[in-house]
Amino acid sequence: MQVIDNITALKDVIGKKKKKGLRIGLVPTMGFLHEGHLSLMRAAKAENDCMVVSIFVNPLQFGVGEDYVEYPRDLEGDKKLAAAAGCDLLFSPSVREMYPRGYATFVEVERLTNSLCGLSRPGHFRGVTTVVAKLFNLVCPDRAYFGQKDAQQAFVLQKMVADLNMDLQLIIGPTIREADGLAMSSRNKYLTPAQRKEAVTLYKSLQEAEQSIAAGEREAEVLKQAISQRISAIKGACLDYVEIVDTTELCPVLLISGKCLIAVAVRFGQTRLIDNVIVEV
Ligand code: PAF
Repeated sequence: MQVIDNITALKDVIGKKKKKGLRIGLVPTMGFLHEGHLSLMRAAKAENDCMVVSIFVNPLQFGVGEDYVEYPRDLEGDKKLAAAAGCDLLFSPSVREMYPRGYATFVEVERLTNSLCGLSRPGHFRGVTTVVAKLFNLVCPDRAYFGQKDAQQAFVLQKMVADLNMDLQLIIGPTIREADGLAMSSRNKYLTPAQRKEAVTLYKSLQEAEQSIAAGEREAEVLKQAISQRISAIKGACLDYVEIVDTTELCPVLLISGKCLIAVAVRFGQTRLIDNVIVEV
């Protein structure tokens, strides 16, 4: 596995691979790799000739008072995991390399970023789309891999790729869960043992909503109330949002029909966890 931290060297290596006609699969990450990332890497390895992983904790997607500084980092551990997953090229640039002095260009997807996490984390998706657009320009992937756990991010990136006519395919891998159902996330590391035990309620409440829908419930408000009550009953947890939206514009729906995204965000102290399911009736 080649490890590169500067853009000139990256472009040189990518140019050579492209000249040979190799298909490139990119897995963009912020590091502190877990099974969710590794499952995307395995898919990227199987479907492309060359697997590139980027590790970059992107300051642009963290708001004031968020966990940019504390965000868990373990580059040496990540290198071992990425190499074992078959990564051919690991790109881990510095902040200055990605955003040199005087940097002034940003990519913004409108409307889809005005709900869910876009409301509680202003500017977050602008940071995500800017860094991902830069990574796409640098790595020129044929396919790029993201997880369903960050559902809104996946929809926003799909919109960016379509609207800007980017010539690549986005592959959205399933949410990978711990044995008890908690969605894997680098931020799970922040949870105390008691919070970790309670955190499984996010997924349980989503599963209960799925069961209610299967039993015939269609009122979004009834489903949201049930999730909200379940989460509000957890001591020390604070519901950021529970929302049910359509899967094109991510606008709240009144009734479940067609495909809908049910998404929750919950704070356990300083730790903010998200989870979601897509239902179809
Ligand atoms: O999902 C993430 O880890 C990040 O938002 C991404 C896509 C790597 C951009 O920084």
